[in-house]
Amino acid sequence: MAIIDKIKAKARADVKRIVLPEGEEPRTIRAAAKILEDGLANLTLLGNPEKIKAMAHEAGVCVCAADIIDPAASEKAGEYAAALYEIRKAKGMTEEQAAKLVADPMYYGVMMVKQGDADGLVSGAIHSTGDMLRPALQIIKAKKGMKTVSSCFLMECPNKAYGDDGIMIFADCAVIPAPTAEELANIAVAAADSARSLAGIEPRVAMLSFSTKGSAKHDNVTKVQEAVALAHELAPELALDGELQLDAAIVPEVGELKAKGSAVAGKANTLVFPDLQAGNIGYKLVQRLAGAEAYGPILQGIAKPCNDLSRGCSVDDIVATVAITACQAQG
Ligand code: ACO
Repeated sequence: MAIIDKIKAKARADVKRIVLPEGEEPRTIRAAAKILEDGLANLTLLGNPEKIKAMAHEAGVCVCAADIIDPAASEKAGEYAAALYEIRKAKGMTEEQAAKLVADPMYYGVMMVKQGDADGLVSGAIHSTGDMLRPALQIIKAKKGMKTVSSCFLMECPNKAYGDDGIMIFADCAVIPAPTAEELANIAVAAADSARSLAGIEPRVAMLSFSTKGSAKHDNVTKVQEAVALAHELAPELALDGELQLDAAIVPEVGELKAKGSAVAGKANTLVFPDLQAGNIGYKLVQRLAGAEAYGPILQGIAKPCNDLSRGCSVDDIVATVAITACQAQG
C-alpha cells in the first residue's frame, strides 16, 4: 500500500477538524469536497459563505458538510482578537492591530488552532511560504521541549533498497535557511519524531555533510559534528550518527568502509541536511531524477499542526496535506 493511503486510513480512524483559510480558492474547494467525501477530516472553510457555496455549485462539488466562517463577521472574532493581543502585546501589538489581523483568514485560522477550535491548519495555495509560516511561528510556536520549528518531507522512493522499503524522511527542506548546531540538533530530533509518527518507521538518523567522520576539515563540518553531540544529549536513545556523506549514510558498502561500526551508516532512513540550500535542492533532485513522491513541507517541532502548500499545488496535494495534518493532530 502506498504511504499516502496508509496515512489516509489513519486519518479516517480518528477524524480531526482542519481549518482551510483559503476557502475561496478553487482548488481548495474541490479538495474540500474530496476530503469530506473520503471522511479524512472535518473541515472549516474560511471566507464568504455565499461565495464559497456558489463556487462549489459551479464546480459541481458539495462542501455542505463543512463549516464555513467569514472571519470578518464571526462571533468569535472578539475572543480571538483578545487572545492574539495577549500573545503579541509584549512584541508591541495593539488591541486595534489584533482586531484587524483576526479579520485576515490566515490569522483567524491560526487563532482557531491556538484556541482549540480546530486541530490543525493547511494553507499556502495562494500565500507564500513566509506569509503562511510567520503567523504560525508567532502564535502557535514550538512545542514543549523544542526550541525550533522546522520541516520535513516524507519521501517515497521507487528504489525500495533505500530507507525502509523506499520510505525516508528528509529535513529541513523548507524553513531554517542557515541553522546553528543547536537548531540542527533540534531538526534531527523532530525528524526522528516525524519518522515514527508519520512514516511509521523506527528512525536511523544521518547528519549529512561533505565529510565523513573527520575526512574533511571546515567550519561547516565542525557545525555538523557539534550538532551530532547536541542531538545525542537531547535524545540519547536515538540511533543517530554523523557527520556522514550521503553515500556513507545510505549505501551499505560505503557506510561499512567509511564509518565502520556505525548503527546508522549505510542504512539511514532519516536524512538531516546541513542547511536549507542542501535540503531544498536535495529533496527536489530525488523527486525529479529518481521519480520519488515527495510529501511536504510538513512542519515539525510545532505545538499544533499547521502545514504549507506550494502555490503550484494540485487538488490531490491539498487532500494529501490535510490527511497528513490530521494524522499529526492525532499525536
Ligand atoms: N522556529 C520557531 N520560531 C521561529 C522560527 C523557527 N524556525 N523562525 C522564526 N521564528 C519566530 C521568531 O522567533 C519570531 O518570533 P517573535 O516574533 O515571537 O519574536 C517570529 O517567528 C518571526 O520571526 P522572524 O525572524 O521575524 O520571521 P521571518 O519572517 O523573518 O522568518 C521564516 C521566518 C518565514 C520561516 C523564514 O525563516 C523563511 O522565510 N524561511 C524560508 C522559507 C522558504 O522560503 N522556504 C523555501 C520554499 S518552501 C519549498 O520549496 C518547499
